[in-house]
Amino acid sequence: MNVQGVPYRTIWAEGGSVKIIDQTRLPHAFVVAELDSLEAAVTAIATMQVRGAPLIGAAAAYGLALAMREDPTDDGLARARERLLATRPTAVNLRWALDRGAEHLAPLPPDERAGTAFRLAARICDDDVDANRRLGAHGYRILQEIHAARVPASGRSTGDGVGVVEGDVDRLNVLTHCNAGWLATVDRGTATAGIYQAHEEGLPLHVWVDETRPRSQGGRLTAWELGEQGIPHTVIPDGAAAHLMARGQVDVVLVGTDRTTARGDVVNKIGTYPVALAARDNGIPFYVAAPSSSIDFSVDEGTEVPIEERAPDEVTWVTGKTAEGGVATVRVIPEGSPARNYAFDVTPARLVTGLVTERGVTEASTEGLARLFPERAR
Ligand code: MRU
Repeated sequence: MNVQGVPYRTIWAEGGSVKIIDQTRLPHAFVVAELDSLEAAVTAIATMQVRGAPLIGAAAAYGLALAMREDPTDDGLARARERLLATRPTAVNLRWALDRGAEHLAPLPPDERAGTAFRLAARICDDDVDANRRLGAHGYRILQEIHAARVPASGRSTGDGVGVVEGDVDRLNVLTHCNAGWLATVDRGTATAGIYQAHEEGLPLHVWVDETRPRSQGGRLTAWELGEQGIPHTVIPDGAAAHLMARGQVDVVLVGTDRTTARGDVVNKIGTYPVALAARDNGIPFYVAAPSSSIDFSVDEGTEVPIEERAPDEVTWVTGKTAEGGVATVRVIPEGSPARNYAFDVTPARLVTGLVTERGVTEASTEGLARLFPERAR
C-alpha cells in the first residue's frame, strides 16, 4: 500500500539483507529497518517491529533464510527453527511458515539451502499478497451486499452524528479491531483488503477503529494506514464499540485472526470477543478475515490455543508524541498496582457470522471449513 503516495510492502529482500517497516516507530516515524541475521529476525518478531499473523510468518521465513547463510547445517536449521518458533506463541502462521521452510530445506545439501530459503520466503510473501487480493474480493462483496440492504439513510438513526459527515450518511460503517491491515500482512491486509477494494470501487464507507489497548495497534497502525490510503475513519476507545452498535452506527464488524481452529473458533487480539458479543446482541454481522495460513486444522477448540501473555509494562506505561514533538513513555497506572497483559482472546464460532477466506466465505464450523479446504481437514 502507499506511504505518502509511494507503494511499499511491509517486508522485502534487498541487497543481500531483508528490509522491514519498523512498526514500533509508527505512526510518529516511518523507519525502514534492516535484518541481517537470524538474531535480528528473532528480535524483530519478539519486539513487534513486525507483527500481525501473516507478516510474522513472512518474517520467520526470511529469518530462516538469514540463518541458512550463517549455518546451513542440519543443526543450524533445527536451531533456527526453534529460535524463531519461540518468539510468539499464538499466531499459527509462524509455525506454518517454518514447517514449510524446514520441509523444503531439509532434503537439500547445505550449500543450496540459503538460496532456496530466500526464494521460498519471497514466494510466501507473493502468495500472501495474492491470497489477500482474493480474500479482499470476497470481503468487498459482503460489504457491497450489506450496503445495498441497508435502511436508506433518511430512515436511520445516526445518533449524535459522530463520525458521520453531513451529506455522507449513505456511508457503510465498518468497525474493526486491532490491525488486520496492510501492516499485519505483506500487502493489502486481510480485514482491510475488502475495505481497500470497496474504497477503490467507489463504495462509500467509514471505518470505526478500535484503539486496541494496550499496544494500540488500532489507534497507531490501522488509523495510520487508512489515513495514508485516504479512507474515512474514526478512532474510538475499545469500550465505545458496543455503545456505537446500540446506537445504530455500525453496519458490520470485520476483524482478522491470529489462529482460527478447525471448528471455526477465532483467536484474535484481546478485546475481539467482547466486540463479537456486542455485535450479536445488536444483530450486527461479525465477519472474520481468515487466510488459510491462519487456519489451524490440528486444533479444534479455541481454548486449546496458547494465549500469549506479554509484559505488564505495556499496560502500565504508554508511549506517545509530546506537544513539543518528541516521543515519551509515561506511567499511567499507580506504582505498585499489578497488571496482567493477555494479548489474545477466543471468540467462539457461534458468534461468527462468516469466515472470509481466499477460497470464499463460509460459516464458522467444521463442515464449512472442510468444504472449502478438503485437503487440510482431518
Ligand atoms: O499482537 P499482534 O499485533 O501481532 O496481533 C495482531 C492481531 O491480532 C491481528 O488482528 C491478527 O494478526 C490478524 S492480522 C491479518
